[in-house]
Amino acid sequence: MKLVMIGGGGFRTPLVHSALLRDREPGRVTEVALVDVDADRLRTMARILADQAEGVPDAPTVSVHTDVEDALPGADFVFSAIRVAGMEGRATDERIGQSHGVIGQETVGFGGISYALRTLPTVMELARTVKRLAPDAWVINFTNPAGVVTEAMSTVLGERVIGICDSPIGLARRALGTLGVQHGPDVELEYAGLNHLGWLTAVRVDGVDRLPEVLADAGRIESFEEGKLFGAEWIQALGALPNEYLHYYSYRRDVLQADQYAPHTRARYLVEQQDRFWAVAGACEHPYRAWQDSRNEREASYMATNRDSAGMGERDVEDMTSGGYEDVALALMRGIAYDQRARLILNVRNRGALAGLDDDAVVEIPCIVDAAGAHPIPGARVPDFGLGTVTAVKYVERQTIQAALHGDRAAALRALAHHPLVDSVRVARALLEDARSSFPHLSYLS
Ligand code: G6P
Ligand code: MN
Repeated sequence: MKLVMIGGGGFRTPLVHSALLRDREPGRVTEVALVDVDADRLRTMARILADQAEGVPDAPTVSVHTDVEDALPGADFVFSAIRVAGMEGRATDERIGQSHGVIGQETVGFGGISYALRTLPTVMELARTVKRLAPDAWVINFTNPAGVVTEAMSTVLGERVIGICDSPIGLARRALGTLGVQHGPDVELEYAGLNHLGWLTAVRVDGVDRLPEVLADAGRIESFEEGKLFGAEWIQALGALPNEYLHYYSYRRDVLQADQYAPHTRARYLVEQQDRFWAVAGACEHPYRAWQDSRNEREASYMATNRDSAGMGERDVEDMTSGGYEDVALALMRGIAYDQRARLILNVRNRGALAGLDDDAVVEIPCIVDAAGAHPIPGARVPDFGLGTVTAVKYVERQTIQAALHGDRAAALRALAHHPLVDSVRVARALLEDARSSFPHLSYLS
C-alpha cells in the first residue's frame, strides 16, 4: 500500500510515520512518498525517518519528491499537510490581526480566513491533480483551516476527501482520563460542530453516558487542559465540553489582552523554535532524537497565550500526550483499506447528519468508517447555544471558498465582516487590504 504525504517535509511527518511503524497488520503501508517544495527539508526528513525506523523490521520504504506528479501514480492514500507561505505567513496573519485588535490565530477569525484565502488555490490544484493521476486514492486532509480546506477540496473529490483533527479526540481522552477510563471500542463519543468549533456532548462507556459525572465535579473539570482554560463554572453552565479553540470566542477580550503583552505570538515563537530544530536535525547523527526533543518543547508551549490569559501554569504532561493526530490517521486508513469498521470524529460532508446545515457542508462529527469511506452518523446535535456561531462561521467559510474559487473580492469582504470575531466592517476592509498587500498569493482578489 502506498501513502503519499504532501508537505512531507513538515514537522509532523514523523508522527504519522510512528503510527505506520507500529502497524503490524498484513496489507499495511509499505511505501511512503514524501512530497515537499523544500528539498533541504525533504533530505533532512528522510534522515529523521530512517533514524526513527532503526531496528524496526519491514519498515515502509521512503522516497522524496519535489514534484507531486512523480509521487502520485499508484497512491492508495494521500495525506495533505501544507502551509502556504510557511510559518512566516502564519506570523504575518497574527501581526496583522494584532495591529487591528482582532485574533489572527491560524484557524480562527481573520487569521483563519487569510490562511484559507492563500491556501485554497493550491489545494484545489492538488485535488485536480489527485483526481487525474490517482483517481482511486483517498485524500486525508490535515491542512488548516481543515474544515474549509476539506469542503473546498470536496467540490472536486466528493467524499474521497476526509479532514482530520486531533482536538476532539484529545478533549475526549482528557475527559475520560479524569474517570480513569481509556478510549477504546467500548467508548462512544457524541461531538458536533465545525473544525475547531465543536462540543463534546456525551461520552458513553459501555452504553452509559459518563459526561455528567465529569461535569458534576469542579475539581475533575479543572484537572485537565480545557477545564482549566474555560473554568469549571462556565463548563457546568454549558453542560458540555467545548473544543479548546472556542477559547478564542468565549474569552476573546482576555486573549487579545494577553496577546498584547506576550513577548511572541505563537508563530513568531515557532519560526525560531523550528529554525533551531532544522539546523540541529540537519547536522546531527540522531535527528529523530532531536525531533522528539523539539516536539516536546513545541507541545509544552502550545496555546501559551490562552493559558496565560486564563492564569494557568505550565502545561501538564498528561495534557501533552497526543495519541490523536497519528492514531486518527491510521485508524482512518485501516478502516478504509481493510474494511475495519471504526467510529471516528472526522470532517466530512454533512449529508443530513446535523440539522440546519445542508448536505454538502463539511462538518466535524462522529462517523463510521469502512471500505466505502466515512459515513456520518445521523443525529449529531450542536447544543442550542452553539447553533448561531456554527451557522455564522459556515457562512463565512462558504464566502471564503467563493472568494478563492472565483476571485470574488466582495465575497472575501463578506467573509471577514460576518465573522463573529471581526467587529466592524471598517476593520474587515482594513484586514483585507493588509492581507492583500502582504501576500502575493492573494493577487487573484483584484
Ligand atoms: C492542534 C490543532 C491543529 C494545529 C495544531 C497547532 O493540534 O488541532 O489543527 O495545527 O494544534 O499546533 P502548533 O504547535 O503549530 O501551534
Ligand atoms: Mn486541528
